[in-house]
Amino acid sequence: MMFLEQKYHLMFCFFLALLPFASVGQSHKNISLGSSHTAQAGNSTWAVSPSGNFAVGFQQIEENGFLLSIWFNQIPERTIVWSANGGNLAPKGSKVELTSDGFFLLNDPTGNRIWSAGSSGSGTSHAAMVDTGNFVLASQSTEYLWQSFDHPTDTILPGQVLNQPSTLVSRYLETNYSSGRFKFILKDDGNLALYTTQYPWSSSNFNYWSTHTSGSDFSLVFNQSGVLFLRANNGSIISMISSKTASTQDFYQRAVLEYDGVFRHYAYPKSSNSNTRSWKMAWSTVYYLPPNICLDIREDYGSGACGFNSYCTFDDGKKSCHCPSGYSFIDPADVMKGCRPDFDSQSCDGSSPETDLFDFYEMENTDWPLTDYEYFEQANEDWCRQDCLSDCFCALAIFRDAGCWKKKLPFSNGRKDPSFQAKALLKIRKDNSTSKCEGPVRKKDQSKLIIVISVLLSSSVLMNLLLLVAGFSVVYWWRSKSSKANQPSQSIVGTCLRSFTFEELRKATNGFEEVLGQGAFSTVYKGVSFDPTWSHIAVKKLNNMVKENEEEFKTEVSTFGRTNHRNLIQLLGFCNEGDHRMLVYEFMSKGSLASFLFDTTERPSWFQRMQIALETARGILYLHEECSTQIIHCDIKPQNVLLDESFTAKISDFGLAKLLKIGQSRTNTGIRGTKGYVAPEWFRNMPITIKVDVYSYGVLLLEIICCRRSFEANAENENQMVLTDWAYDCFHERKLDLLVKDDKEALADMKMVEKYVMLSLWCIQEDPLLRPSMKKILQMLEGSIDVPAPPDLPSLITTISL
Ligand SMILES: *[C@@H]1O[C@H](CO)[C@@H](O)[C@H](O)[C@H]1NC(C)=O
Ligand SMILES: *[C@@H]1O[C@H](CO)[C@@H](O)[C@H](O)[C@H]1NC(C)=O
Ligand SMILES: *[C@@H]1O[C@H](CO)[C@@H](O)[C@H](O)[C@H]1NC(C)=O
Ligand SMILES: *[C@@H]1O[C@H](CO)[C@@H](O)[C@H](O)[C@H]1NC(C)=O
Ligand SMILES: *[C@@H]1O[C@H](CO)[C@@H](O)[C@H](O)[C@H]1NC(C)=O
Ligand SMILES: *[C@@H]1O[C@H](CO)[C@@H](O)[C@H](O)[C@H]1NC(C)=O
Repeated sequence: MMFLEQKYHLMFCFFLALLPFASVGQSHKNISLGSSHTAQAGNSTWAVSPSGNFAVGFQQIEENGFLLSIWFNQIPERTIVWSANGGNLAPKGSKVELTSDGFFLLNDPTGNRIWSAGSSGSGTSHAAMVDTGNFVLASQSTEYLWQSFDHPTDTILPGQVLNQPSTLVSRYLETNYSSGRFKFILKDDGNLALYTTQYPWSSSNFNYWSTHTSGSDFSLVFNQSGVLFLRANNGSIISMISSKTASTQDFYQRAVLEYDGVFRHYAYPKSSNSNTRSWKMAWSTVYYLPPNICLDIREDYGSGACGFNSYCTFDDGKKSCHCPSGYSFIDPADVMKGCRPDFDSQSCDGSSPETDLFDFYEMENTDWPLTDYEYFEQANEDWCRQDCLSDCFCALAIFRDAGCWKKKLPFSNGRKDPSFQAKALLKIRKDNSTSKCEGPVRKKDQSKLIIVISVLLSSSVLMNLLLLVAGFSVVYWWRSKSSKANQPSQSIVGTCLRSFTFEELRKATNGFEEVLGQGAFSTVYKGVSFDPTWSHIAVKKLNNMVKENEEEFKTEVSTFGRTNHRNLIQLLGFCNEGDHRMLVYEFMSKGSLASFLFDTTERPSWFQRMQIALETARGILYLHEECSTQIIHCDIKPQNVLLDESFTAKISDFGLAKLLKIGQSRTNTGIRGTKGYVAPEWFRNMPITIKVDVYSYGVLLLEIICCRRSFEANAENENQMVLTDWAYDCFHERKLDLLVKDDKEALADMKMVEKYVMLSLWCIQEDPLLRPSMKKILQMLEGSIDVPAPPDLPSLITTISL
């Protein structure tokens, strides 16, 4: 029926288009006194404008929430341009009517007046929905007594003129129409400006864009060509806001102060013709203000463009808010509420300063300006770090140009922008793995046990045919019957693994389009995220399945699902549907350590490399000593260390990992790992212990120091081909500088190079018992204990080849 009605209006429109501007009198859509409309599902429309472009009535926003509003009536997207009652919803059964007293009234189901417009005794004779999108109460002589154009909410339409003073208020959220946090005001003094508000109060807080004009009798005009300007009463243009045009003949247009604080002019093709061919049939942005909201809002009070503790990025006209590592959104559905730390803050109890329990998460091009509590000039970065670390108030330090700014929680005005030359050092608790999986989802009324078999297959191959070992596993997945599995943010943020459908992942990866990596038994694809915390995800699609001891693997994945450490890649979810087995991980935008070290023309900085060595060690230490079950990774190599946006190292690929039961310290298993990184005991039929990872780490550390692969077939000369041998030679001949030839930064830090090389040589001792534990390694890396000289004859056996 709606469809027929629309068709009818279209025909109407055809005739009306031949007429000059249709005044209310000529409109065939008069709403007479006494007419009413009730909020109900299925029929939203009270009246339609003659052309059918606009309609007024009740839009159903929630199950029992209706919004008296005006909307674009000929496009599929719901686009509300005006709403009554401050954007607040009215319950089902509420009624809007044009009373004989001349009021335009909104009553709740019991007949109480919630909202009204117009005034009694003003001579209203009828109302009409006009083709411009204006809803008017008119007198017998068709004079407008009240019009929605004089009472705008967040939108201005072509033909609409706002007189001094006028205000547009953004909505709270995209689909919550109550008053939000931003305002666009044409002030009494003649200035037109965008403001943040002292939410929940409506008072203006901070002006983040303005025309800097002054005068009286100014009007903001949005004319039929889509041009937006400030006009004086003598007709001269005071300020051009947007001169970009789109003709009203070909396009629906609106300019709206959106909930994110950006004022955008949108256009939507009315039909496909030669003028609109290059446009999508959707709302496209013509113009927006301010140029970069993330940078333009910088206020002394309030959180800035995003919520407290979050940071803002502005890309392609789109503003996004993010939580830094170690923080998560208080309310993922309302990101402006900010982020909270996932860890307990540093104790200020003088007797246990906890200094060594904290570390920094580094963020380049990021700043939280203003609200510092301390500032030091002529500091260096190390000093800045140390000072913040030992100060329990300090939650964040900003380092730039020898300046060190210290901040307490909460941080405000967060932004990340390439133009920005500051480095943020965010203090987070080190090994506090925020064990998200022990959160409420698991503990809640568990009514259903779903056993998910998912296969973790490695992407590495050991000596071609030898390695056919693959891991696979079973996840016990408790899912609360009542929880809505399909609400993405709910089950992910701060909780547990999510179960995906194949269709969801196919969509997220755009039909498995972009391949990130390929292994023997799996392929990894890039996908868009379902959760605002991450912009992208990595989907590992397993293309083979080997069934082994079910019990063992059940334990395996239930453990990995729970590992959650800053230096381990995070498993976000999985798909187990029919033949499809997929694992969903956080996306690591900077790729693998292998490509970082070996595939770049410019050598990565020494400091950054040392940082990665440290972080990788922390990840392995967590697996070895800090999980409830001891885990041997078995395949530590630079391809399996991935780097996130801020170059934080995260260990990935647990496909070959082994779990040791409580009390067990060794295990026997088939050969796992990758040539060049595997410890000698693999070939000796010796029991396998966590020390195999220490061996691989030693090789990796040498690669990080030297920025070269462990095996280089076309090295300058033969004795340089195998890195471990060469490092050993250099160490013994006291020619360590050869290892870091051409590396100015490392050459300036030879003490450290020596220390790290000695440590590597300890790690690659043939006798596993001689190799230090990861805990010792970390202490040596951090400098809390010295590295002793390695034994004289380590009898390196790295030249094994099969
Ligand atoms: C609409 O109302 C006005 C004023 O009462 C009247 O002049 C006009 O004829 C009406 N139009 C129609 C189509 O009823
Ligand atoms: C919808 O409601 C309006 C006003 O109450 C009424 O005129 C119209 O006939 C209704 N349409 C349908 C399809 O029921
Ligand atoms: C919209 O947001 C406000 C402020 O948080 C809240 O009070 C109101 O209930 C929300 N309305 C809807 C329909 O969710
Ligand atoms: C809109 O304003 C611009 C700038 O003043 C002008 O060039 C254009 O003709 C106007 N369009 C209409 C339809 O009045
Ligand atoms: C129109 O008014 C503006 C501001 O009031 C003034 O600057 C301008 O000179 C006036 N222009 C004319 C032609 O009077
Ligand atoms: C983080 O560590 C602190 C102190 O060690 C502990 O009290 C807290 O429970 C930990 N938080 C989580 C989420 O594990």
